[in-house]
This record gives sequence, structure tokens and C-alpha cells, in this order.
Amino acid sequence: MFKAPFLVANWKMNYGIKQAVQVTADIVVGLRGMRRKGQLVLCPSYPALLSVKQTIGDESISLGAQDLSGQDRGAFTGEVAPWMIKEAGAEYVIIGHSERKKYFSETNESINNKVKNALKEGLTPIICVGETFEERQENQKDHVVLRQVQNALDGVKVSPINPIIIAYEPVWVIGTGQAIEPSDAEYMHTLIRQVLIDLYPLVVVDHHTAILYGGSVDENNVDEFCDKEHIQGFLVGSASLHSQQFLKIIEKVCKESSAQS
Ligand code: 13P
Repeated sequence: MFKAPFLVANWKMNYGIKQAVQVTADIVVGLRGMRRKGQLVLCPSYPALLSVKQTIGDESISLGAQDLSGQDRGAFTGEVAPWMIKEAGAEYVIIGHSERKKYFSETNESINNKVKNALKEGLTPIICVGETFEERQENQKDHVVLRQVQNALDGVKVSPINPIIIAYEPVWVIGTGQAIEPSDAEYMHTLIRQVLIDLYPLVVVDHHTAILYGGSVDENNVDEFCDKEHIQGFLVGSASLHSQQFLKIIEKVCKESSAQS
């Protein structure tokens, strides 16, 4: 079931199989007895997907990959197809992260292609958007983010069996330890929601899309974002690498969202 709040851990290229399994096991233990809401998604590296899935067992934690190929099968050395990710037990996939744009030349076109490829296989895309510092300085942030969302969703049908998630990650705060002002994030989320409403019926936007915030989220600042109406969860990098830190974030998010409902 597609239900906020979403808490997504992006472990990037930090853990191999052993460490990913250890952190997952610690999270599983830490979650026992915690009253949880919404969805928790762990995104390890490709080689760790299956082992993390096995460690999760029957617990209600989902698995996600950090990228996927825009191709289906065949002579594409080094690529990983959506069905392979699915076979490893994943239900989600991060697409178009700013690090992939910066270091691996991801384009609006390749991101759109990957979104369609993910949905075709029944994977829920977590589409990353966000402006750079220069774009913000030049007052381009609204336009840049709006175009990124429009381009990523060009020709994409959203439905109960094909939900999508947008993660707003201002590039300039990622990994800095300094998140943006919650009111600033809320403004950007409202803008993204408006783009979604322009593209899809309101009922579809309300039930089959979610907008997450990412960028230096930690256990000390997460509650300031929780009471914002259009922030439906978080994509967490550094602070998700340590189970105890991540568990504190989970606890705070669940507590805040219970208080509001
Ligand atoms: P940090 O939480 O380390 O800033 O990373 C955010 C991110 O890039 C998640 O995808």
C-alpha cells in the first residue's frame, strides 16, 4: 500500500554486503516494539540487494535500488535491468540522483526513460529533483525544479499500480550537514505538487504520488520538517548509514505524523 510518511535510506556507495546486512539487522531489531506508520525503504548497493532482502525477512521494510538501466536486456555491459532489481526483491528505485547527473551525465531524457522502464516492471520510481547553488543564486530554482519534474514525467501515466515519488533534494545542501529552512522546503514542495496537479487528476496526486525532502536530514532537524503539509517523507543519506541515528529519525517521523493524524 502506498502510504506516507516515507522514509528512504540511500546508502550510496558506502556499504558492501556485510555492512549493509549488519545495519539492516540492527534496524530490524531497533524497530521491534516501535509504533510505526508509513513506509520504510532501504536502498543498498546492487550487490547487497538480495542479502538485505533476506535480512529484512517478514518485517515490513521495503527494498530499493539506487539506479537502474533504461534498457531491458541484452548487450549493455555493466547495466542492471529493472527486472533484475525486481528479482532481487526491490519495489523501489531511486532515479536521477544529483550525483548521477554530476558524475555520470544523466540527462532529462535518460531520467524520463528510466522512469518509464521502472514503471513497466512495477518498480516505484523515487525521482530526484533539485537546484544547484548557482541556479538558486540566479533565481532559477522554481523554473529548474519545475522543468525537471515535467521532463521526468513526460508521457508517464500514474495510477494505483504505478505510483511515483518525487524527492526534492537541493543539490547544494546534500552531505553538508546543513539542511534548508523547512519553510523553504515546503515552498518547493508546494510548487512540485502544483506541477503534479497540472499533469494528473487531483485524486491521483493525492493517493498515488508523494513528495519527499532530502538533503542533510538528521535526528536533530527532522521534526522541524514533519509538520509541513506537503512534506510526505524523507530521503536520507549520511544519517541513514548508522542504525541508531536512523532509528531515531524513524521514531521522530512516526511520532510527529501520529500527532498530526
Ligand atoms: P545527505 O542526507 O547525506 O545530505 O544525502 C542526501 C541524499 O543525497 C539522499 O539521496
